[in-house]
Amino acid sequence: MNQQTAVPPPMDGRDPSNLRGDKITGDRYFSKDFAQKEWDHLWTKIWHIAGRTADIPEAGDFMVHNFMKESVIAVRQEDGSVRAFYNSCGHRGMRMVDGTSSVASFHCPYHGWKWGIDGVLEYAQDGDVDFRKGNPCGKLKLGELRCAIWGGFVWYCMDDDGPTLEEFLEPMPALYRNYPMDTAVRVAWYRIELDANWKFVTDNFSESYHTRTAHPQVPPWIDQDVDSARHEMWPKGHGRTVQPMRPSLSDRPEGGGNAMFEAELRKWDVDPGKYATYEDFALQGWKDLKAAKQKLWKEKGYLHYEHMNDEEITDSPHTVMFPNVTISFLPDNLILFRSEPHPADPEKCYFDLWCMAFPVEGQTEVESIMAGVKPLREVPECEHRVFDKGRGIPELAGQIVYQDMELAENMQAGMHSRGYKDAYLSDQETRIRFFHEVLNDWIEGRG
Ligand code: FES
Repeated sequence: MNQQTAVPPPMDGRDPSNLRGDKITGDRYFSKDFAQKEWDHLWTKIWHIAGRTADIPEAGDFMVHNFMKESVIAVRQEDGSVRAFYNSCGHRGMRMVDGTSSVASFHCPYHGWKWGIDGVLEYAQDGDVDFRKGNPCGKLKLGELRCAIWGGFVWYCMDDDGPTLEEFLEPMPALYRNYPMDTAVRVAWYRIELDANWKFVTDNFSESYHTRTAHPQVPPWIDQDVDSARHEMWPKGHGRTVQPMRPSLSDRPEGGGNAMFEAELRKWDVDPGKYATYEDFALQGWKDLKAAKQKLWKEKGYLHYEHMNDEEITDSPHTVMFPNVTISFLPDNLILFRSEPHPADPEKCYFDLWCMAFPVEGQTEVESIMAGVKPLREVPECEHRVFDKGRGIPELAGQIVYQDMELAENMQAGMHSRGYKDAYLSDQETRIRFFHEVLNDWIEGRG
């Protein structure tokens, strides 16, 4: 993909006067009619992530992305490109493969037809003798979808028309051009079935207003105070909160200490004990950290900082890419959160958590942020779990995402109340309504 260089100025993500004021009604979260409209006008039109390019390095390597009742294969070609095909045999429609693996050709288990990795039929039983229109080999092809790569992710689109991936993501490729995203290693990989509509995940990641209540462990480490963070949104529906990774001055740990920030300062040879006040520790310490990182990144093996700017090496742009992908860009990590609808029940979704870390010379373990300390290597398989009120992922108890999932299930319950008519949002939650308005645009054909 050509990287854009110019980033259009964002709209103010704290200014609701940019919006129409569409209501966020409860039925959006449980109505089967609304879910059908989303399938017809959103999911079949937008770009989806099939997986990481690192999962399919060699020709014939493939991965399958099942989305609602559809299934798509992304497969590496001989020339190094990646193409996407419907996972539906051109003979009678059989779903042929699942998971991530490698093939010389796709072998349908029903009648034995074989499809090349370029999607062309290579073999059909009785091909020469039993087809009145002639041997279909070399003529039939699997249904192909548009496929493109950005950020180390393979994307596909079920619609032949509509925006290119670059247009769809605008301005994300330009905004994040300094991060070597394709080098990030996925060290934790979960798909968790949750009793909530998929939109709660986007809602939740579109604001940090809940953090002080729901995630008390965060403010001592990431300053999400309303006037510290920057709230931005762009016309395509994408938005972000840029949060300084320094202690909040509003929520101070008991006694004023802060082990996480202190450890970060020490890691970069800054003495956390030299500051006279907590304000100095947080604000000057953060500036000293920037200076130390700019000076020492190469020596300490943080080669991914090479093109990152002063903000990117210490801060956290928490970014929602319309409609269902969120990436937290941290100096040393990328965390992808994604929600996808359940194929039959709008009151359920699949919550994907991919914790990725940039390799640092000499490191064998990394703090994955959302899933704890992990070995620095690609995890081979996705952990499929059911949240089950937290019982399905005990190892994530107390983590930020776990707390979010608990909230999502209770939000889902609240949407059925006759007492709920619309959200009453603070300014810093403007992006929630913006998300729903852009969704309405797609559903009503204005997307
Ligand atoms: Fe695939 Fe018949 S359905 S070979």
